[in-house]
Amino acid sequence: MKIGIVGLGFVGLSLTSVLASKGYRTVGIDIDKRKCEKISNGNSPFFEPDLEKTLRSGLKKELTIGNDFSLLNDCDFIFVTVGTPQSENGTIDLSMIKKSITTIGKDLHKNNKNPIILIKSTVVPGTIKNTILPILEKKSNKKEGKDFGLISNPEFLQESSAIKDTKFPHAVVLGGQETKYMRKANNFFSKLHPKTPIIITNHQTAEMIKYANNSFLATKISFINQLSNICQNIPGANIDDIAKTIGLDPRIGKLFLNAGPGYGGSCLPKDMKALINFANNVGINPTLLNAVEEINIKQIDQIISLIKQKLGDISSKRITILGTAFKSDTDDIRDSVAIKLIKKLLKRKAKIIIHDPKAIQNTMNIFGKRISYAKSINDALSKSQCVVIMTQWKQYENLNNNQIKQMTKKFIIDCRRMLVKKELDGDYFAIGLGKQN
Ligand code: UGA
Repeated sequence: MKIGIVGLGFVGLSLTSVLASKGYRTVGIDIDKRKCEKISNGNSPFFEPDLEKTLRSGLKKELTIGNDFSLLNDCDFIFVTVGTPQSENGTIDLSMIKKSITTIGKDLHKNNKNPIILIKSTVVPGTIKNTILPILEKKSNKKEGKDFGLISNPEFLQESSAIKDTKFPHAVVLGGQETKYMRKANNFFSKLHPKTPIIITNHQTAEMIKYANNSFLATKISFINQLSNICQNIPGANIDDIAKTIGLDPRIGKLFLNAGPGYGGSCLPKDMKALINFANNVGINPTLLNAVEEINIKQIDQIISLIKQKLGDISSKRITILGTAFKSDTDDIRDSVAIKLIKKLLKRKAKIIIHDPKAIQNTMNIFGKRISYAKSINDALSKSQCVVIMTQWKQYENLNNNQIKQMTKKFIIDCRRMLVKKELDGDYFAIGLGKQN
């Protein structure tokens, strides 16, 4: 059995590495030659815990990395994991997936295996049936269900736990017709993940499951963020005690109830926009989804108001941002709320100094010399007038009075409530806490 993966981002490279490390003959394809070279040498193009270790273990077995689609010609399974980013107007940009599918389609006649093509990329309902399938059949002159299989197989992994999630997913969704190809895919996944529920459904439902998943997670976050804003106006109230307690109710569940500066990253904001757009297009006014998005966007404004309240005019004030990655254990800053905050503060002419254990280089690629970069938390706080903890990196828990002493004005905004239990010599504000007595 040989497995091909097209698109070596978080999803594709994690899948490639896990399958290869388990001993499957695997081929990973990406159009970016330099990225392929890096990966072939055992180096990941981005930081993800355990990824390099898994990749290197795969490279010792039967793993080939390259940019030549003909490597897919004798594959039994071809996973498509290319990005489907957001276009300027908020709709989903299908250009990359259309390009990959066109090439795979053109090459299908060379494949003597009648492969199964599995679409992992997130696409709005109807895309696989109405766009991807016609391209594949037209370019290959072959018939789906007879000459090849086409299955929607949405992905649920989270960055920062991508390897664990790839090895142990909570569910496998297979969308498409119930043909011999579906049976073969079902067999493959039952062996790969013996304990995981497999849901077999049609393409449209599989596509919608992905949006349902991500929009529900975003809803949980905006819900807790709205409650946390209410708590801030109740003296002594604590959002974490509330989240912990409601999380014990199995109907609610404890995860994704961490109040903070709003959700970011390359998935939740983009998928919310795509779903809102899609709903409007099918004649549904998505009032709840719109509110979830609005709460998320406004969350950052309260940080700016607070800074203004404490520092007055922000221009030329020295403000430290701890954490620019969209969450901890990643160097990814795509759609990071911290990056948005920095942009807003720069517009108001603040002097920004940032610290992040992994994402400095990516942050530099955006801001260059317009902001300063500190190697240590100490350097980041020196002569600062305000510090904002944006990302929940473990090391920020150790922030102490010795470090705060170096600030010229000791105003601390803790968006993740990491320092709640400390007696800090400063003016401390935490998202989700009412004024303490
Ligand atoms: C998200 C989903 O969680 C994955 O299931 C999905 O597969 C992925 O998108 C995708 O569609 O590819 P990811 O973008 O890696 O995963 O990030 P999350 O862990 O979901 O975090 C998203 C944002 O929500 C972060 O900014 C995080 O700080 C924030 N968040 C998360 C909170 O503010 N509070 C929480 O309780 C949880």
